[in-house]
Amino acid sequence: MDKVQNKGMSRRDALKRMGAFVAGAAAMSVPAALTSCGEGRKRRIILYFTATGNSLYIARQLADETTELLSIPQMVKLGRHNFEADEIGIVYPIYGHMPPNMVRNFIKQAKIRAGYKFAVLTYGMLDFNAAELWDGISRKAGTEFDYINTLMMVDNWLPGFDMNEQMKMDKHIPEQVEKVRADLRQHRKWIKPATAEDRRSHDRFMLFARLDPEVGFLKQSERYFQVTDACIGCAICSEVCPRGNYKLTSTGVKTEGSCDFCFACIHNCPQKAIRFQSLPDDPLMARGEINPNARYRNEHVSLWSIKESNRQMNG
Ligand SMILES: Cc1cc2nc3c(=O)[nH]c(=O)nc-3n(C[C@H](O)[C@H](O)[C@H](O)COP(=O)(O)O)c2cc1C
Ligand code: SF4
Ligand code: SF4
Repeated sequence: MDKVQNKGMSRRDALKRMGAFVAGAAAMSVPAALTSCGEGRKRRIILYFTATGNSLYIARQLADETTELLSIPQMVKLGRHNFEADEIGIVYPIYGHMPPNMVRNFIKQAKIRAGYKFAVLTYGMLDFNAAELWDGISRKAGTEFDYINTLMMVDNWLPGFDMNEQMKMDKHIPEQVEKVRADLRQHRKWIKPATAEDRRSHDRFMLFARLDPEVGFLKQSERYFQVTDACIGCAICSEVCPRGNYKLTSTGVKTEGSCDFCFACIHNCPQKAIRFQSLPDDPLMARGEINPNARYRNEHVSLWSIKESNRQMNG
């Protein structure tokens, strides 16, 4: 798919699509002068977190030739907290309507200086008060966003959805992207409002899921994920995990450590060799998963790009 769609693109566009801006601007420490833009053009930074590519795809859709796309796991790895540009945006997937734990910790440490700050939160089926929650979390951390919106994509929540069914649904993504682009062009100041019922629904979810609202999803990967005999030792799981939780050992692949529950490992394993453990004591996992033979990655995003975004080991 990527190959076909890159046809006819300039080299610069193709590199941007492939995520080379991430490596170029961050990992390879290109001097600031090389990443800044020409006179009169607004320089934009978009920081993103992604597990299955939806948020990276949206970050790319909101980028132009003056945009630096920066992966939050790579910024965390580099210890980079200071960002300055004309416009700075953040794109992440919501988890229980909240940001991933890594994004939450990142915003607490980040110094974001920009004339216009925006956040676009990708989700699958129900966003409830996600925009309002980000507004609260980011304000408390000392960064106020001018614009916070949500964007509906394929829902990668395996315990609740069959990916084959999700992929058949038309969620009108181009139309949603176009609206967000128009808002950003106008520097619209707007936070997607939440109703009292949205807030109640979120509170009910938190009670049911037994999650700490100050933390969100933070699990232990060894408790939730099991590597089956179908594993061929390709090491993809060790490269796509933004926490570096997977290791290839002489006795097979092992996972261990604090986990954002992003599902990059389970979705991107080419053998479908990663399965959920049976955990009747966790209400979210009580039913197992809907279709263990269906996995998802955004059709416009390559596995290479997910690895570039999330890889924690050096090299
Ligand atoms: C742990 C977890 C929790 C999620 N919670 C929600 C949710 O509360 N509401 C929703 O609509 N989608 C939820 N999703 C779906 C993702 O937000 C959605 O598929 C997102 O676009 C994935 O982005 P990515 O491909 O960049 O990782 C959840 C996914 C995961 C893995
Ligand atoms: S990605 Fe899957 S097949 Fe590859 S090493 Fe990890 S568990 Fe094994
Ligand atoms: S172990 Fe899997 S779910 Fe947990 S952070 Fe790593 S990739 Fe995400």
